[in-house]
Amino acid sequence: MHKLFFALLCTTVSLAQPTQPALIPSPQTFESRTGHFTITAQTRLNILTPVPSVRRMVQRNLPGLRLTDQTRPARAITVRLASVPGVGPEGYDLTVSPTGVLLTAPREAGLFYGLQTLRQFLPVNAFAGRDNPVKRTVTGVVPALHIRDQPRFGWRGLMLDVSRHFFDKAFVMRYIDQMAQYKFNVFHWHLTDDQGWRIEIKSLPRLTQVGAYRVPRTGVWRDITNPLPGENTTYGGYYTQDDIREVVQYAAQRSITVVPEIDMPGHMMAAIAAYPNLTCGNKPQPVPPNGKFYRIEDNNLNPCEDSTFLFVDKVLTEVAALFPGPYIHIGGDEAYKGFWETCAACKPLMATNNLKNVDELQSYFIRRVEKIVESKGKKLIGWDEILEGGLAPNATVMSWRGMKGGIEAARQNHSVIMSPENPAYLDRYQGDPSIEPSTFGMVRLSDAYAFEPVPDSVRVELILGGQGNLWTESVPTPRHAEYMTWPRAFALAEVLWSPKRQRNWPNFVTRVESHLIRYDSLDVNYARSMYDPVVLTKKPPLGAVEVFLSHELPDVFLYYTTDNTLPDNRAPLYTRSFLMPAGADRLKVVAYRNGKPIGRILDLTTPDLLLRMK
Ligand code: ACM
Repeated sequence: MHKLFFALLCTTVSLAQPTQPALIPSPQTFESRTGHFTITAQTRLNILTPVPSVRRMVQRNLPGLRLTDQTRPARAITVRLASVPGVGPEGYDLTVSPTGVLLTAPREAGLFYGLQTLRQFLPVNAFAGRDNPVKRTVTGVVPALHIRDQPRFGWRGLMLDVSRHFFDKAFVMRYIDQMAQYKFNVFHWHLTDDQGWRIEIKSLPRLTQVGAYRVPRTGVWRDITNPLPGENTTYGGYYTQDDIREVVQYAAQRSITVVPEIDMPGHMMAAIAAYPNLTCGNKPQPVPPNGKFYRIEDNNLNPCEDSTFLFVDKVLTEVAALFPGPYIHIGGDEAYKGFWETCAACKPLMATNNLKNVDELQSYFIRRVEKIVESKGKKLIGWDEILEGGLAPNATVMSWRGMKGGIEAARQNHSVIMSPENPAYLDRYQGDPSIEPSTFGMVRLSDAYAFEPVPDSVRVELILGGQGNLWTESVPTPRHAEYMTWPRAFALAEVLWSPKRQRNWPNFVTRVESHLIRYDSLDVNYARSMYDPVVLTKKPPLGAVEVFLSHELPDVFLYYTTDNTLPDNRAPLYTRSFLMPAGADRLKVVAYRNGKPIGRILDLTTPDLLLRMK
């Protein structure tokens, strides 16, 4: 009975193998060979390294297989640490033949990535994951092949903002797990912001006692109301230092470095709520549930008092001890410096230090913070605003307001991480605003896939890589964080790993669809927005509204109505832009692929169409 079931399982699996491997990110080289290798409970695992942590990592990724100590075992998966010609520290060489699998990499990271590639050939239910303890042995059929692979960039990051909304440790680890399967190697943890301080600092306990909690609110970000007098601060949470260590270790086991961000001198309201004397005005503040205080109340550290730098030193001493990676991100974005103009302590300090304006004062602050960061043995990263008033000597710049900050920093010989809000931000709309959860901007999957981190005329070795950022003002739940992340992070994974010349949108879409099926089985949430029509409008010279329809996916037909009926494939087929007829109050659009409707019907009123007119 058991044998029969197993045979059936193998048949199903082998029938289900796609002819073109659905690997994301696509490998640097791929060569298909004849035949396949079947992994069964009898397959042996041959790990040719004595390093215990590497052996454990390999076994975690290929659970249930018995180890062998034969030197040349038959029908085994052999994994070895050894150099591979032309392959750097994150690269690997994977050969699958009908008689076995051989994975070679010079470093543990490469072995990890080779295993992720191998796992993408196997059915998802092959894995005993954290959420799937039922099936304990990896099984499946892998086509014969040879892959030699390594990343295009050394920095392949995603950022999660845990301040605006709090995401617990279990979710953070789940997110890291998902990232690792797509070969991201940096988890940028945005741990502090105005709306919540999320990391325990033992020498400054009020940061979390006070700063980690705010009044509860729900709804559209821009409409969220201020705290009422005396209202209880019941929403929030933070990570203890033990939690942080656990997450850092979990990430390290998946070849991910965690980069903590402590955002300063702006975005500090949660800390100011705990310690009001951090600002020029010493004014007590609540932890805000919204952003309505910006420019009205001071949310900046006072850069003109030594006590501020003692505070920064205390925080960064503990942060540096918790995160073994080389970098600390100190934010630096969006500081509103208006309160510094009138700050009594700043006038003499600016005069003494020959600082002409508040931009130079910010630069003075960041330079002093860089000295603190370096005194802890770390390197400083900041958002591109740290260019204002002059860059700190060794700063790495994370460029978010487009690419220009990164280009300027590279021109000054500084290292750069490209994370332009368009198209690398994950908090923006990814489909039509009329049917998406409320946010702003627009970064479609195809936009993310078109991201090119290396601008012309920049020294390529200064571009460490790129990153997608998930800000969570409008992301209240873990489920929605996944929705905003996937599939756009598939696109970023490929942009940051695969050779540029290999980018191919229709082929990527096919692979995305197969990974979405995997995510269905794994109960990971994602957006289906790429299936929905795209509607743009313009006002032509003679009035009315001109409608332009398109679709992100290839081989899709669009049908529309303007008469209030529901469109199907008997409605007018869209071939070119058209004017909304006089009197029409709605446009409805449906997409068909292979004769079947896909995605959601867009239903836009004439006012909707007018609002989006260019
Ligand atoms: C940012 O988006 N404020 C870095």
